[in-house]
Amino acid sequence: MPQTHSMPKTGRADGTSDANGKTSESRMTTPSKKAVTQKFGTVRAMPLGLEEKAREASARALNQILADTITLTHLYKKHHWQVSGSDFYQLHLLFDKHYEEQSELIDEIAERIQLLGGVAVAMSHDVAELTTIPRPPRDREEPRTQIARILEAHEIIMKEVRTAAKMASEAGDEGTNDLLISDVLRTNEMQTWFVSEHVQQPTIYADER
Ligand SMILES: [Fe+2]
Repeated sequence: MPQTHSMPKTGRADGTSDANGKTSESRMTTPSKKAVTQKFGTVRAMPLGLEEKAREASARALNQILADTITLTHLYKKHHWQVSGSDFYQLHLLFDKHYEEQSELIDEIAERIQLLGGVAVAMSHDVAELTTIPRPPRDREEPRTQIARILEAHEIIMKEVRTAAKMASEAGDEGTNDLLISDVLRTNEMQTWFVSEHVQQPTIYADER
């Protein structure tokens, strides 16, 4: 009987496959649902001298601030691209500068969540579900409205930050308090000043002398 030479069904030289018929190559590109090592919203043990309750509360508050800060960066990039009018160039540059500064905060907040033993929210799908910042239309808007949206987002974040910082401090988590006050709050306050001055109406007082 002539010997038949059947080709392996996969590109692998040895054509080996597991019980599910998956080769090592397809295993490499098919994420396993059983690969979760930590559930979102939980905190793992971390020898920081901080109670689990305090770390869990800080991680939860930081994830809310992270989701809203990621959304703020999207708002800045949207308006960096879509801005128009006589202040186009100035706002175009300012919005991108603030985007960069907020992007640095995102990394600091996310890494603080991880070091507390938590899981940082990352994907836009999850951010969209978590964020409390109102969704703008896909359409292009006039500059005053773009600025109003940005200021509204900053204000939402600053309120969250002050509450979370106070809570963290009361729980003994001074590291989180420091990050929130020294970096997140100060940056948001400064950016609010720079953006809001574009729409402030100067009050002219009559000389009463
Ligand atoms: Fe750009």
